[in-house]
Amino acid sequence: MKERIESLSKEIEVFTAESAEQLENFRIKMLGKKGLVTQLFEEFKNVSPELKREFGQVLNVLKNATQNKINELKEAVSGNNSDLQVGTDVTRPMPLSLGSRHPLSLVRNEIISIFSRIGFVVSEGPEIEDDWHNFSALNFPEEHPARDMQDTFFIDKQIALRTHTSSVQVRVMENSKPPIRTISPGRVYRNEAISARAHCQFHQVEGLYIDSQVSFADLKQTLLYFAKEMFGDKTQIRLRPSYFPFTEPSAEMDISCPFCEGKGCSICKGAGWVEILGCGMVDPNVLNNCKIDATKYSGFAFGMGIERITMLKYKINDLRLFFENDIRFLQQFKSVV
Ligand code: DAH
Repeated sequence: MKERIESLSKEIEVFTAESAEQLENFRIKMLGKKGLVTQLFEEFKNVSPELKREFGQVLNVLKNATQNKINELKEAVSGNNSDLQVGTDVTRPMPLSLGSRHPLSLVRNEIISIFSRIGFVVSEGPEIEDDWHNFSALNFPEEHPARDMQDTFFIDKQIALRTHTSSVQVRVMENSKPPIRTISPGRVYRNEAISARAHCQFHQVEGLYIDSQVSFADLKQTLLYFAKEMFGDKTQIRLRPSYFPFTEPSAEMDISCPFCEGKGCSICKGAGWVEILGCGMVDPNVLNNCKIDATKYSGFAFGMGIERITMLKYKINDLRLFFENDIRFLQQFKSVV
């Protein structure tokens, strides 16, 4: 038995295959039902107990070596097309397995679609932004504590990663004349510790409408339309007074909780309402900073977090899931949008 093992292991060591067929024959010869290695394992049953240990080990080594050899050669011969079957159609398209869209993309696309139906166009701006567009033009005075509302990643004193997409409204106003109706989706950054409820990067959509005689009633009606389109016809909104440097008056908007329809549940912490965005009438200082005559024009603006909307829409309770790209999470969002 010992000699046979030795000669077999030499044979395996020097074996090479030129085609998949040769390799398959080798596999059958060694590891098939009546294969040489298989036979040795059969005979092993009759080996005396005191020799079992020794033989068991060498037999396992032999079997692994055979399998490794086969695996190795499999790769080598797979590039070899000589054994292409007659009748194989090499031009036939492979079955495509399509991916799914990221939930944040789905919701961003839906927001764009909802606003485009009432005449809003998409505009974009840079993620690396200067102080003017991210802060000063938006009425954040220098050294004003309002700048601390957002923990900024500074690149140098004048340049930072944008902390909000409100910077894009400045760029749009500087570069176009009213009437302006635009939404600006994009990624923003804040120096925050990562947790289930906060992240150092996230996404926002900014909205801006400038024309003559735009009123707070227009703002309210636009946002009611959005809330109903996004969360269903029964959705109600409420506006609470708030503060942002770039709007006056400013408000935060809640929607009736989409999970309990306002009755109170664990998601809305019993309140029946959940906050989804900030908004207000564009401060005349901002209009003037962007060379728009505040005596002739007025407008509203709003900004919302795409993650927040997505979490409410799909009942996701941890912000980190959006950035980990775990395939088991992503595969749950199949859509054609
Ligand atoms: N930029 C604000 C933020 O990041 C959100 C916001 C609030 C945008 C009110 C607006 C607005 O345009 O009017 O928290």
